[in-house]
Amino acid sequence: MRILFASSEVVPFSKTGGLADVSGALPTALAKRGHEVVVITPRYHQVDVAAYDLRRKRTRLSVPVKGKPIHGGILEGRGEAGVTYLFVDQPGYFDRDGLYGTDGKDFADNDERFAFFSRAVFESCRLVGMSPDIIHCNDWQTGPIPALLQFEYRDRPELNSTGSVMTIHNLGFQGLFPPETMITLGLDWNLFTPSNLEYYGQTSYLKAGLIFADKLTTVSKKYAQEIQTPAMGFGMNGLLEERATDLRGILNGVDYGSWDPKHDKLIAARYTAQNLTGKGVCKTHLQQHMGLPANPEIPLIGCVSRLTTQKGIDLFIKAAERLLSLRCQWVFLGSGDQDIEEALRQLADRHPQKIAVQTGYDDDLAHAIHAGADLYLMPSRYEPCGLNQMYALRYGAIPVVRAVGGLDDTIENVSADGGNGFKFQEASAEDLGKALDRALKTFTDRDTWAELVEYAMSQDFSWDRPSRQYEIVYQKAAALRNP
Ligand code: ADP
Ligand code: GLC
Repeated sequence: MRILFASSEVVPFSKTGGLADVSGALPTALAKRGHEVVVITPRYHQVDVAAYDLRRKRTRLSVPVKGKPIHGGILEGRGEAGVTYLFVDQPGYFDRDGLYGTDGKDFADNDERFAFFSRAVFESCRLVGMSPDIIHCNDWQTGPIPALLQFEYRDRPELNSTGSVMTIHNLGFQGLFPPETMITLGLDWNLFTPSNLEYYGQTSYLKAGLIFADKLTTVSKKYAQEIQTPAMGFGMNGLLEERATDLRGILNGVDYGSWDPKHDKLIAARYTAQNLTGKGVCKTHLQQHMGLPANPEIPLIGCVSRLTTQKGIDLFIKAAERLLSLRCQWVFLGSGDQDIEEALRQLADRHPQKIAVQTGYDDDLAHAIHAGADLYLMPSRYEPCGLNQMYALRYGAIPVVRAVGGLDDTIENVSADGGNGFKFQEASAEDLGKALDRALKTFTDRDTWAELVEYAMSQDFSWDRPSRQYEIVYQKAAALRNP
């Protein structure tokens, strides 16, 4: 199949979270299965044109935004397995410090930026001569694409029989803008109704995708159920329930090419489940690097996270005084809400022997934490999939997670019958504390712990299975357009 994969962030070019990891790995996995895959994404300031040898195409984009043509260019790159990358270049919109905002504030013109990008996807098809069987859209930034395809671009010969798939990576981000954004998008005001793009008086980019895409997916089975409930549906549960037969949960995979201690160049020493000497080296290295006492015996708990309410780090903060009295060490890496960052820093100031915190974004340290940690914390309020718990498993850092979304689908409580981690149900400091008590108790039992680490490291969450599942969804969406 010819697959056009549209995403606002793609590893290794740009990243704020797991969407980038998925957009880096899934297209490659699909290409390895023999598909023709083109990934289209904005050319941000952080995209390193020289390092990836990106070439400017001798074409000029002209995209109508607010009814006026906005000009731009296209850069092209090649990846593994023959994946083509197209970068939509419009410096006014994308050559900025952040992807979606700076200093915790969204850019005021995000509606315009991603209206431009969504339309540029279609203009690029014409310019590069691509007639996709499927356009795969991801999150709100690409939500307008299925609506634009339906109402404006369908008549173009190259898009006549193109099917669309919309993946929800996080329903908490919907791309909500004022009503006038309908003009920016260039869609008819008739569509500004609750059964179309309107969401309580606002224009919703995500809703545009959820209504008009041929098929919908989200990133775990459990999350596919959760988003159909009022508690976790962010107001979209009714719509998602109506489309339940078109919605499928497909668990994300892991790119073991980047996330495996066997060959990870970003960590202090390589190791495998059969020989864990290197993990000890990584632990000492992490303790020293973070200024914690370098003690191989004391359990070390790691956490790499966006610091937002979603991630439940406040539950740790609430329980911190008790948790920091336990015999263990903590390492946090994250960025996000100022309050959470500040609270973590204060804990680190008060308990320098117990907890070390680094704020900001640091890929090397993220790898070092997975490699050095014995346990890995993810107390999320909701978690569509979560990649870090799967990375942690491969590095032998046993996850302690809340039983939601993809965390519930990937982690099974340790018991006499097996299991690969420690789960708790309620979003409460108390429940989190109890799960940790169980984890630390198990850690003291050397044999059980060794078995647990060996099992965790041997689990396979690669993209093999999920890429085949996407293939089936694509086939169904394409069939709707080619009856
Ligand atoms: P989400 O996409 O909701 O943030 P995921 O678990 O799916 O959660 O993916 C998060 C990704 O972002 C992982 O690759 C993780 O290592 C990375 N990440 C998050 N915060 C940081 C940070 N401060 N520094 C480096 N990597 C980070
Ligand atoms: C989102 C979710 C996360 C998921 C990622 C990739 O950012 O919060 O759970 O793993 O997307 O799908």
